[in-house]
Amino acid sequence: MLQVKVHTEEGSTKNFSRSVFLEVLFVIVDFVKVLCYAVPILAMHIFRTFIPPKLKDVSGQTVLITGGGNGLGRALALNFASRGCNVVVVDIDLAAAEQTCAELRRNRVDAYAYRVDVSSYEQVEALAIDLHKNVGPVDILVNNAALVYFDFLHNTSVEMANRTIDINIKSHVWTTKVFLEKMMERKRGHIVAISSMSGMYAFPWAVVYSTSKYAVNGFMAAVTEQLRLQGYGDHIQTTCVCPYYIATRKDIVEFLKKPRFKLLTTEHTARVIIEGILRNEVILAIPPFFDLGVRFMQLFPVKIQQLVRDYIIREYELNSS
Ligand SMILES: NC(=O)c1ccc[n+]([C@@H]2O[C@H](COP(=O)([O-])OP(=O)(O)OC[C@H]3O[C@@H](n4cnc5c(N)ncnc54)[C@H](O)[C@@H]3O)[C@@H](O)[C@H]2O)c1
Repeated sequence: MLQVKVHTEEGSTKNFSRSVFLEVLFVIVDFVKVLCYAVPILAMHIFRTFIPPKLKDVSGQTVLITGGGNGLGRALALNFASRGCNVVVVDIDLAAAEQTCAELRRNRVDAYAYRVDVSSYEQVEALAIDLHKNVGPVDILVNNAALVYFDFLHNTSVEMANRTIDINIKSHVWTTKVFLEKMMERKRGHIVAISSMSGMYAFPWAVVYSTSKYAVNGFMAAVTEQLRLQGYGDHIQTTCVCPYYIATRKDIVEFLKKPRFKLLTTEHTARVIIEGILRNEVILAIPPFFDLGVRFMQLFPVKIQQLVRDYIIREYELNSS
């Protein structure tokens, strides 16, 4: 009886070792497959860095831009219109949206101004219903609206933190949710998020703002992967844009008294963003070396990252008098 038991244990141990061996073998085979697929993709990526692909033609397409009444949103609207796009300008400030639309029409394109608080799901849903009835489907959705401000966490009011989370994060979820279904039906569309460098590299004087931009990056990564898994990867593109500081508003320029790097201009940033969108770039850092720098820095221990902050970015000087 005892002998039979020992025999059985030996057998099951052998079976177990065989199945572990097979598991490891399968993982090695899968890893080799990944390497075989990755090499040509990487080679193409490097090639495309030096010889970018042709920009896709978007003339006649409908672009919706949230926060298009001012700053970067307005510059994006003007650039899209100069490429022959019809533009829907959505802003909480209707007068500013109408002013942008008046400028857009000089390019002989259709322009529509809507007053919508993009943090409200009900208002965003009503916008989508109205647009589908009166304007037609949206080809490119640009989630640009955000509260941009600098404040340490202990100085940020609960109301401001709530508004930041509602406008900077929830608006992306609401607009994408209401426009995605039509894009899936048409097998055509492009979703763009204007995030920030502070979504890749934490800004100490803008804790809630920076948090909101990390959330936007996570949201865009998840949506991109959902679309790929569901077979829409070749039909619906996504672009997550992470720019450095842009001189859109006087208070931003005044806050950054001694920026280590020159602030970006609004028009230049809008042009670079649109070219990135038209090349179907998934992640677009502006300027591009910042992205590489941040990723490289994150390979090192936090104390070394702090040395980079202290000696290269020199954050303590940015807002000193
Ligand atoms: N300015 C920068 O330094 C900088 C840097 C990186 C990224 N960004 C990002 O670029 C985008 C645009 O920034 P900006 O500097 O042009 O800002 P801005 O303040 O000049 O313009 C924001 C626009 O959004 C609108 N808006 C605000 N709340 C809204 C709401 N609830 N519903 C609808 N519209 C609303 C405003 O009325 C305004 O027209 C933001 O997402 C921002 O985070 C800005």
